[in-house]
Amino acid sequence: MNLPILLRKEKSSYNTTMRSKPKQSFIINGLAGDKKLEGEVTINGAKNAALPAMAASILFDGPVTLENIPNTDDIETTSNILSSLGAKVERKDHRIVIDPTHISNTNIDNDLAQKMRASVILTGPLLARSEMASFPIPGGCVIGNRPIEQFLNAYQKMGAVVEQPNGVYEIQAPDGGLRGATIFFDLQTVTGTETLMIAAVLASGKTILKNCATEPEITSLAEWFNNCGAKISGIGTSTLTIEGSGGKLLQPVTPYRTIPDRIEAGSYLILGALCAKDIVIKDCEPEHMESIINLLMNSGVQIEVGKNQLRVTNIPSSTNDSFKSFNVRTHEYPGFPTDLQSPLVTFLTQVSGDSIVFESIFEGRFKYTEELIKMGADITAMNPREILIKGPTPLIELPEGEVLNAHDIRAGFAVVLAALVGKGKYTVNQVHLIDRGYEKLEERLTAIGANIMRVVN
Ligand code: EPZ
Repeated sequence: MNLPILLRKEKSSYNTTMRSKPKQSFIINGLAGDKKLEGEVTINGAKNAALPAMAASILFDGPVTLENIPNTDDIETTSNILSSLGAKVERKDHRIVIDPTHISNTNIDNDLAQKMRASVILTGPLLARSEMASFPIPGGCVIGNRPIEQFLNAYQKMGAVVEQPNGVYEIQAPDGGLRGATIFFDLQTVTGTETLMIAAVLASGKTILKNCATEPEITSLAEWFNNCGAKISGIGTSTLTIEGSGGKLLQPVTPYRTIPDRIEAGSYLILGALCAKDIVIKDCEPEHMESIINLLMNSGVQIEVGKNQLRVTNIPSSTNDSFKSFNVRTHEYPGFPTDLQSPLVTFLTQVSGDSIVFESIFEGRFKYTEELIKMGADITAMNPREILIKGPTPLIELPEGEVLNAHDIRAGFAVVLAALVGKGKYTVNQVHLIDRGYEKLEERLTAIGANIMRVVN
């Protein structure tokens, strides 16, 4: 099927509820250092596995079932994009059925591609199936520029032509579709690896992807593709070899079961260290979380590691300054994940001693520290990639009318965590950013004893 897939400026038919979502805030009464949260938190499927799996549904010859999908706004956005393409999308609880058979309309709302950088993943399956795709030049976002040259260079290696008329990249696959190629990524890119793996599945001939990212989300996607007829080897390593099908679509033999969200689980683990008497984090995958578990245990946090759960406890009357400070550098998997950098900095403001955090993945992922500094944290920027945190510092009440802001998904969690640790009553704005990656955060925190309420402004 050779459908020209275009991103155009005009409004598309996608449902606009996402855009008109009212401004919402959280009102949080801090625990003032008390560690009294207790109960269970059940971890959802990983947003960063579900998004590429949803995009990859376009490779299939018929309806595809995806299970354990989180109910977060990025999933809603991706569902809307796929529906606007003409795919049939049915969501019920944590399950989605996507039928790409009748993809006809090619208008993807341009704003979405700017708002949700992960929509770039769609260029892979669209090029593979319909031989044409275009993507707006990514706007920078709060954590960095988010360029896509690794994607475009790889497509050109596979025979595609990339042009750049008026603010979009238009990518045209060669006649007969993408051709297998050997591609070396200049840097390890998670969605770059996912997108080119997806594109290579339907290409003609063999593709070898080198210097790939090795995140668990990529492994789970590759294993699913192989169960449905793809021929991918080197799974879990930095070199993936894909024998392309020459345009033959994948068969929806088995549903995709989204792996547990290691970033959500790591976020709650850090929260437990600071605020819990005893919480159990269920349905997680500790094997994907070795870096954060080790860092917290070495700092003195009591963590029991089970097969699919983690339990974090604090002895009564213990305080956070009993934990030791440490230095950390964000790193590609299995190193310390950049998505846990901001929640971990909140933790480091409370432990005893100096900590240095080096953000090696994104060039602008410390903006949220201004919120922590408002609350009394002692954080100094050494350079755009490195901060020094001196702890412990009490997180104080803000002056009347002063609010906290969520700067991105993970920074939003870090600010909520700081408010929970703090002595005062706080308002956290921009919670729609938190809703992109954390399902029903306030309900789940309330269930373990936190005092947090969502208000619509
Ligand atoms: C994925 O983003 C995640 N998103 C991010 O999670 C995560 O922070 C990131 O990987 C790193 O782990 C999804 O999986 C949907 P990259 P991605 O390409 O793939 C640069 C969250 O909060 N780069 O691995 O976009 C890039 O600018 C989000 O859930 C280029 O220079 O990240 C960055 O500095 C935030 N050129 C570095 O590589 C390119 O062509 C790694 O980015 C591509 C990337």
